[in-house]
Amino acid sequence: MEQAYDFGLIGLGVMGRNFILNVADNGFTAFGNDLDTEKVNALKVEGGDLERVNATTDVATFVKALAQPRKIMMLVPAGKIVDAVIEGLLPHIDKGDIIIDGGNSFFTDTDRREAYLSEKGIHFFGAGVSGGAKGARKGPSIMPGGSKEGYAAVQPIFEAVSAKYKGEPCVAYLGPKSAGNYVKMVHNGLEYGLMQLTSEIYDVLKKGGDLRNEELHTTFKTWNEGRLQSFLVEITSEIFEQQDEFSDGQLIDQILDKAKQKGTGKWTSQNAMDLGIPVPSIDIAVSMREISALKSERVQADDLYDRPTVASMDKDALKKMTEEALYFSFIITYAQGLHQLADASKEYGYDVDIATIAKIWRAGCIIRAGLLADITEAFKADASLPNLLLSPSFIEKVRATVGSARKLVAYGATNGIPLPGVSNSLTYFDAYTSSRLPLNLIQAQRDYFGSHTYERLDKEGIFHTEWEE
Ligand code: 6PG
Repeated sequence: MEQAYDFGLIGLGVMGRNFILNVADNGFTAFGNDLDTEKVNALKVEGGDLERVNATTDVATFVKALAQPRKIMMLVPAGKIVDAVIEGLLPHIDKGDIIIDGGNSFFTDTDRREAYLSEKGIHFFGAGVSGGAKGARKGPSIMPGGSKEGYAAVQPIFEAVSAKYKGEPCVAYLGPKSAGNYVKMVHNGLEYGLMQLTSEIYDVLKKGGDLRNEELHTTFKTWNEGRLQSFLVEITSEIFEQQDEFSDGQLIDQILDKAKQKGTGKWTSQNAMDLGIPVPSIDIAVSMREISALKSERVQADDLYDRPTVASMDKDALKKMTEEALYFSFIITYAQGLHQLADASKEYGYDVDIATIAKIWRAGCIIRAGLLADITEAFKADASLPNLLLSPSFIEKVRATVGSARKLVAYGATNGIPLPGVSNSLTYFDAYTSSRLPLNLIQAQRDYFGSHTYERLDKEGIFHTEWEE
């Protein structure tokens, strides 16, 4: 009898190849599929043993090689390709088989695909996979949602291949429909927010404290050993050390200051707007990538306007201030993303547990951070916590650091150093913690020009005033 492989993977790019090798390393037999012969052959060579890892360019051969119910994961670019791969599989697979979309698909596409496939008796689920190429090989964080029955069949494989935090796998079933892709989308929105914040801190340390790359390396390295411990702070410290192969200096100084994006951060912002949930620390991170792309206009405008001469600061004082402001802003950014997730969970019927999400983000993914262990505990203590800022365990952390965020924002504004992520985080905090905001005036204006009515502080009911009289 021919061998029936445990797991199938379509899309043998870097992520797919690494993921399938990870599956094989964990004792499961795996079969890959890609249209590209070179990728198929490369995997066979790297796998070393065809009984352990095999691959083909032919879909029918691929499907035939898998044990039933077939567990087929796609790691292909989001969009039309996903639909094309599904259509290519359908003539060959059977009821009860499982298709997993491991890419960054937009969540409504996942809902559509799940409805379409469940009618045909196929289990479909979207599973966000985070951790980049290294994560896929050594242990990513995996965010599955959708068919629960389908997930149960794959659970042992996913738990084996995922990253582990103190022995606990960084994967868990998150909820029905597109819950997995939605959580991954917000993960990426947070990724944008945290990356923007670290880039601002780099800027202010460089311009205000005259820190050179070597000092930036040691500063971020030291921070990574403390409460800011996180993958992004860790790689930031390493980036400052990287020598440039074409010059005497470090590579960072030769990289063009234009950040690209594939869209997941923008989707997070757009959907937060649809839900009516404020995520300004994520919004501004998307806007900053857009501003960064306007390089030639920025160069032109730089010549037209004066910029204050930066008043340099004592290095140690600046390091202390930036560490506190960054920690504060990280907390506020996570608070916003988790708020969005809690709201989306109600709106879309995901019924996700925020503590579970925080738990599976503690290792493997790009936004993994020491802070997520505290966040997990905060939501374990109160699953219906509306906002991290209301958690008793976060009050002291925020109180102790907000002062530095204020000083840093003021310093940036006075000296012409843009710190929009820190500043938006601070503004969100100040607004969220204000029992009284000036939006009474907006209601008055709406009623004045459009008879939109208003409510009163002292009486129940809806009111309208004939203002001009
Ligand atoms: C991850 C990353 C991954 C990818 C981003 C990059 O979790 O492993 O988020 O999914 O690197 O999508 O996004 P941009 O190209 O939009 O920066």
